[in-house]
Amino acid sequence: APSLKGKDCLSLSAFPLEAIELLTEKAMQLKKQQVAGKECQCLNGKSLAMIFDKPSTRTRISFEVGMKQLGGHTLHLHRDELQLSRGETLQDTARILSGYVDAVLIRTFTHELVAELAEHASIPVINGLTDLHHPCQALADLLTLKEEKGHLKGLKLAYIGDGNNVFHSLLEAAAATGIHLVAAIPKGYDPNETIVQQAVQTAVQTGATISFTRIPEEAVAGADAVYTDVWSSMGQEEEEEKRIQDFQGFQVNEKLMSLADSEALFLHCLPAHRGLEVTAEVMEGPHSVVFQQAENRLHAQKALLAGLLG
Ligand code: CP
Ligand code: NVA
Repeated sequence: APSLKGKDCLSLSAFPLEAIELLTEKAMQLKKQQVAGKECQCLNGKSLAMIFDKPSTRTRISFEVGMKQLGGHTLHLHRDELQLSRGETLQDTARILSGYVDAVLIRTFTHELVAELAEHASIPVINGLTDLHHPCQALADLLTLKEEKGHLKGLKLAYIGDGNNVFHSLLEAAAATGIHLVAAIPKGYDPNETIVQQAVQTAVQTGATISFTRIPEEAVAGADAVYTDVWSSMGQEEEEEKRIQDFQGFQVNEKLMSLADSEALFLHCLPAHRGLEVTAEVMEGPHSVVFQQAENRLHAQKALLAGLLG
C-alpha cells in the first residue's frame, strides 16, 4: 500500500489513487476495533493543533475524539489568541507549530491560505474545509457508501445542488474510486473547471464517469445514492435569498427520491436545512444514512491520521 506518512491532505487529488479506497478499508477496520473495545494506540503521544476560522460541530469533535482514541491529543487554537492576530506571519506560525506538534488541521476561507501554511510547515497539514475543498468529508462519504453497498466501483451517485467545496471533494473521491457521478447543478453554480478537468482525467484511469445536467430528475434516475449539500455555504450568508430562488427545483424530496433506485441511499454532509435543499421526510426517511455518515467522519479521519502520522 502507498504510504501517506508525512503528506499533507489539502485535497484528495494529492494522494495516490489507490490510497483513497484503502483509507476506507482502514477506517472500517478501526471502526470494528473500536466497537470491540480493542482500540489501537498508534498515535500514542502525538499532537494535532486545530485552527477554525469558521464554525464546526462534526469536524472539530470528531478530530478531537479520534486523536484521543488513538492515544494522541489535540490543541484547539483560537486565531484571536495567537500572535497571528497581531500580525505574526502565517509562514512563521507554520514553522513554530512544526517545532511543537505533529500535524495541524485548519478550516478557513481561501484554499491558498492552507496551501501557504502547508508550504512552510514541515508537518502534515490537514484541510478541515476551505471554500474549495472538504477532503475529510469525502472520505467519510466513501466509507458510508462502501459500508452500505459493499463496494464503490460502478456505483451510480447523483449529486444535486451547488458546485461547492463538498462537491469538489466528492468529485475527486468518485473519480478515484470508479464511481459514476451525475451532478445536477443550476446555471451559475458550476464547479471549478480545473478540478473537473483533473477529475475527468483521473476517471479515465479508474473507469469512473462524470457527467453534468441542469435537471435533477435526470441525475437521480436509477441512482444508488443521492447526495446534496446546503445552497448557501459558510461565508455566503448574504447571497442566501438569491440562492433560494436560483435553486428552486433542486430540493431533494420524496418525489425526487422515488426516481432513484428503490434501495437508494440519501447522503448529506450536514448541517442540513430542512425545507430548503432537503425535506424533513427525506432526512428522516428510510433511505437516509446521514447520521451514520456523520459518525463516519470519526472513523475515516482516524484512518487518515494513522496514515499521515502512524
Ligand atoms: N460536515 C461538516 O464538516 O460539519 P461541521 O461543519 O459541523 O464540521
Ligand atoms: N458547503 C458547506 C459545507 C459545510 C460542512 C459549507 O462550506 O458551509
